Amino acid sequence: MSAATSSASANAVLAARGVAKSFVSGERKLQVLQDVAIEVLAGESVSIRGESGSGKSTLLHLLAGLDTVDGGEVRWGGSAKLDAARRGRFLGMVFQSFYLIPELTALDNVLMAARMVGRVGKTERARAAELLLRVGLAERAQHVPAKLSGGERQRVAVARALMNRPELLLADEPTGNLDERTGDEVINLLLQLCRETQTTLVLVTHNPAHAARTDRQLVLHEGRLGEA
Ligand SMILES: Nc1ncnc2c1ncn2[C@@H]1O[C@H](COP(=O)(O)OP(=O)(O)O)[C@@H](O)[C@H]1O
Ligand SMILES: [Mg+2]
Repeated sequence: MSAATSSASANAVLAARGVAKSFVSGERKLQVLQDVAIEVLAGESVSIRGESGSGKSTLLHLLAGLDTVDGGEVRWGGSAKLDAARRGRFLGMVFQSFYLIPELTALDNVLMAARMVGRVGKTERARAAELLLRVGLAERAQHVPAKLSGGERQRVAVARALMNRPELLLADEPTGNLDERTGDEVINLLLQLCRETQTTLVLVTHNPAHAARTDRQLVLHEGRLGEA
């Protein structure tokens, strides 16, 4: 096949097929994901909705390469290998509970992403400061998370997720701990920054209005991912 006629899959930043995942507790086996397929192209934004316990976080962990599939496969930029070093550059993550390091300032939390994959010098410090400016927290750069509001903490987490210019951003209910207005602001920021930087976005959310703002809407139900 020539490059000109290459399939969509060749451009997929993220592709998974036949993904199965179960958890065993005691005698019982819980089949969380049955046969999940997803393909996300460069620059695309996709939302995933689903009831609580439907396996959204489990799926996102697999899509982040943080857990292994029981069956099927996940590919990142065409490759089935994603070691820690590549993961740190390839993708960024945002979680419901922010997961900032309490002892570190906002700036150092953002820089932590860079520290995980290499040296931190002048260039990285300048970029982290610029990202904090971009998310409206220039004045808060030296504050520790305890001195920040929920919305501010999540904006630090967004800056951290984008620090290494990832191709892919995975967000797991990023507004789940925020009030409605603050949540809307965080989503606006997330969508805008991803669009500006051509970052591919997979957004897990309970909020139908937030889901509706992505290019494609998917729903996870009974272990399978389908069109909304
Ligand atoms: N590490 C684990 N061990 C056992 N069960 C798990 C584990 N992680 C998730 N589960 C179970 O898998 C199901 C899906 O969980 P999760 O992916 O967190 O759902 P969601 O994010 O959609 O709320 C739930 O029933 C949950 O209890
Ligand atoms: Mg979850």
